[in-house]
Amino acid sequence: MLKTVWSERRKLVEEALKVELYRERPLNKTLGEAMEYSLMAGGKRLRPILLMAAADAVGAEGTDFLCTACALEMIHTYSLIHDDLPAMDNDDYRRGKYTNHKVYGDGMAILAGDALLTLAFEVMTRQKGVSKEAIFQVVSEMSRAAGAAGMVGGQAIDLQSEGKRISMEELRQMHLGKTGALFRAALRSGAILGGANASQLEALTKYAEAFGLAFQITDDILDVIGDSSVIGKPVGSDLRNEKSTYVTLTSLEEAQELANTTIDKAICALEGLGHEADFLRELVKYLSDRKN
Ligand code: IPE
Ligand code: IPE
Ligand code: MG
Ligand code: MG
Ligand code: MG
Repeated sequence: MLKTVWSERRKLVEEALKVELYRERPLNKTLGEAMEYSLMAGGKRLRPILLMAAADAVGAEGTDFLCTACALEMIHTYSLIHDDLPAMDNDDYRRGKYTNHKVYGDGMAILAGDALLTLAFEVMTRQKGVSKEAIFQVVSEMSRAAGAAGMVGGQAIDLQSEGKRISMEELRQMHLGKTGALFRAALRSGAILGGANASQLEALTKYAEAFGLAFQITDDILDVIGDSSVIGKPVGSDLRNEKSTYVTLTSLEEAQELANTTIDKAICALEGLGHEADFLRELVKYLSDRKN
């Protein structure tokens, strides 16, 4: 079930992303190309798929929220473009292609990121079939998740932790911010749009936090033992930048163990949900031996 649903929905996301991207023509042709270059470069489309799966899990039809799902993928893609810049991780490959700044230059890459972030919020307001209040709540979730209390905040901790040994708790905070926040927003937004009650929302939030943490731990592991042709980005980037990661603070084995216990926590969080949440149960298991 996992692979089929994932690839079907991924296709839907790809098509919808293109539509949303071209709805309005950018003032500058190169900017438009730079936005398209990274947005349409592939990627697992995990966050939009999680958003839709959260809506399914509370008894709604996830694909009704494709528009908001695409908006989240735009925010994620912007975060990757900026993460790869020379002033940040200085990486040359992403999603199996040259990074945005390698092709368009640093300035245009910054602008392409900015434009994707702002486009995301415009796209969110176009979500059909739900109340204005639900959209308002989702915009609030997404903006908090993307900002200083979420992804950008985590990235700032990451930047300041280079070359230093930080505590495990600081590392956890960093991961929950830089990676966890967008996963949390994915699950919570899907749940809100799908009409979740308070206990469903709480269960999906707990799942999201565990999912995000396990995802970043496995990302840290792949940076050491991954195959760059499969992950589509360089291995050894963290080592080169003297990053604090679960692998550097513990060991490969301990990091894998922690990922596994965190995955179990995510599954436990879904206890109160029915078979509609099976896709989420299966999806988090994929993390323990993911290759990309
Ligand atoms: C990469 O995210 C950045 C991290 C949060 C570790 P993904 O591994 O989901 O990247 P894509 O979207 O598949 O390229
Ligand atoms: C960055 O984490 C997460 C965000 C882009 C917010 P990493 O720097 O570890 O991501 P990768 O490994 O470059 O994808
Ligand atoms: Mg980084
Ligand atoms: Mg990086
Ligand atoms: Mg990484």
